[in-house]
Amino acid sequence: MTPPLVSIRGLCVTLGGNAVLKDVHADIVRGQITSLIGLNGSGKTTLLRAVLKEVPYTGQISFHCGHDHTHQNPNHVGYVPQKLRLEGNVPITVRDLLALALQKRPLFFGIKAAVRAQMVTMLARVGASPALLDRPADRISGGELQRVLLALALEPNPELLLLDEPAAGVDFQDQESFYELIARLNRERGVSILLVSHDLSVVSRHAHHVLCLKDGLIQCQGTPREMLNDAMLRQTFGADRAVFAHGHHH
Ligand SMILES: Nc1ncnc2c1ncn2[C@@H]1O[C@H](COP(=O)(O)OP(=O)(O)O)[C@@H](O)[C@H]1O
Ligand SMILES: [Mg+2]
Repeated sequence: MTPPLVSIRGLCVTLGGNAVLKDVHADIVRGQITSLIGLNGSGKTTLLRAVLKEVPYTGQISFHCGHDHTHQNPNHVGYVPQKLRLEGNVPITVRDLLALALQKRPLFFGIKAAVRAQMVTMLARVGASPALLDRPADRISGGELQRVLLALALEPNPELLLLDEPAAGVDFQDQESFYELIARLNRERGVSILLVSHDLSVVSRHAHHVLCLKDGLIQCQGTPREMLNDAMLRQTFGADRAVFAHGHHH
């Protein structure tokens, strides 16, 4: 078996007095898509934020990738957060949004030619048109915004991508092509992915391994075939399982 890219052992996170993660043991396997499923409030986002070192934790999160992980926010880990709402709040173009992230200097100094070229390459990588650069960032569609955020997360060439319900709020057609893109990035670039998704048909089609989180613990884990059946889903989702039944494919 390939060694894990990240091994998580005895991970505990307490936030505002709540024990959110209570002794999580899990591996993120190199080169694979690992899917994290569980009810709302089960701690999925918190687990991603612990891997990013954005929340205090006890236990071990060990990276086996040859990079130094003693510092905050390992920069070869890309992250697409859950529900970034820009509507009406960011009156700047996609070009300026990307420039703010890519250049460590104020926009009024202008955007370097090399950075302008880099933006076109970044958008091409995620199948987005360079015409997006001129559009206001708060007026593009949910699917377009997710591609822009994914393009940023892929810079510069992370070994691990953390995707937190990346297609929530995206049209169905756009969701399909977004997940195809994720699967292609995994196949062609070998980037390892930890994907939080509520869509069990997406999980069954694209994940290699499934982690089921319940009440801050990994309740069960295995291949999609092993996990996406009535008995396992009832363990993870309880009575709410029916909500997810539409995505249950054999
Ligand atoms: N900063 C915080 N302070 C207190 N409780 C928090 C904080 N962040 C998250 N929680 C709680 O932790 C639990 C897990 O949250 P989260 O990781 O966002 O779950 P999920 O992503 O699975 O929906 C929830 O009960 C949530 O209310
Ligand atoms: Mg969440």
